[in-house]
Amino acid sequence: MSDLNPPTDPERMKTQLPARATRPRNADAKPAASGAEKTRARPGGLFECIAEGRQFESVVHPDAGHDEAVVEIVDFRLWYGETQALHDISFSVPKGKVTALIGPSGCGKSTLIRCVNRMNDLVDSVRVEGQMKLNGDAIYGKGVDVIELRKRIGMVFQKPNPFPMSIFENVVYSLRIDGVRDRHALEEVCESSLRGAGLWDEVKDRLKDSALALSGGQQQRLCIARAIAAEPEVLLLDEPCSALDPIATGRIEDLIDDLKGLYSVLIVTHNMQQASRVSDNTAFMYLGRLVEYGPTETLFLSPSLRETEDYVTGRFG
Ligand SMILES: Nc1ncnc2c1ncn2[C@@H]1O[C@H](COP(=O)(O)OP(=O)(O)OP(=O)(O)O)[C@@H](O)[C@H]1O
Ligand SMILES: [Mg+2]
Repeated sequence: MSDLNPPTDPERMKTQLPARATRPRNADAKPAASGAEKTRARPGGLFECIAEGRQFESVVHPDAGHDEAVVEIVDFRLWYGETQALHDISFSVPKGKVTALIGPSGCGKSTLIRCVNRMNDLVDSVRVEGQMKLNGDAIYGKGVDVIELRKRIGMVFQKPNPFPMSIFENVVYSLRIDGVRDRHALEEVCESSLRGAGLWDEVKDRLKDSALALSGGQQQRLCIARAIAAEPEVLLLDEPCSALDPIATGRIEDLIDDLKGLYSVLIVTHNMQQASRVSDNTAFMYLGRLVEYGPTETLFLSPSLRETEDYVTGRFG
């Protein structure tokens, strides 16, 4: 989406958001009205209700779910040992769009995103229930080949992690693993991926140089190039800009915008302006629960829940 005013500016938000009493609800948002009213009727509000483990209904705006899903999450729960970190999460990540995951630190954003490519399998104490599907295929089904599954999913972390090899070899890494030897094919993928990641012009004359010699922002775009070279069905980005300066961040945001349509992206961010600038849909989480999910414009400009509004306008957390 584009042209949203910066939502973290409380003054501007105040002028953007109609008064709560008169704010029109999204006519389609079936569960929103009842969920919101019920929540407000609870003493202490929704956050206390969640903290105390009381029952509540996530608000999922139906207009976020009309598109074909690349990732479907259904009643998903996760425990680290005895501690439950994700509770009954259900929503769909639409194909060809950018979906942002927001929420205060420790609410389970990374845990959730890491479940999509089963990275949490690497943590001994983890147990999951519920379902996740990638393009209709069960991610946690019996007999799923996790290596094959991960080939279908790209992931980029908060801290760039280029491999200690050349820029070229970083980008074509997945093709090498698949045994591609044709130099011409490798060069083509290298160029198109680096172009896709907005890095080609900066590195085209130094492809043999070590990737570790690149700046942080360049390294992050290299990691995105490496991820898209594998043509993933979904690209997971966990706070990809948090270690970058505003210029490098702007480049990555432009890049995410360019990837829209070609790739399906699920991005974790703490930056509300970034979420509003780059994403089509936004999911707001709190203490391991999905609070509200819908089109980004709805969540930022006319959310159904007061708590969502407080969070996106910076009045909370
Ligand atoms: N490997 C682990 N073992 C045990 N508990 C964990 C593990 N990883 C995360 N947790 C716990 O799960 C909860 C969610 O953590 P998670 O890292 O998913 O939050 P987050 O929303 O990504 O936070 P941040 O915004 O700070 O990155 C936290 O309470 C955290 O302490
Ligand atoms: Mg995290």
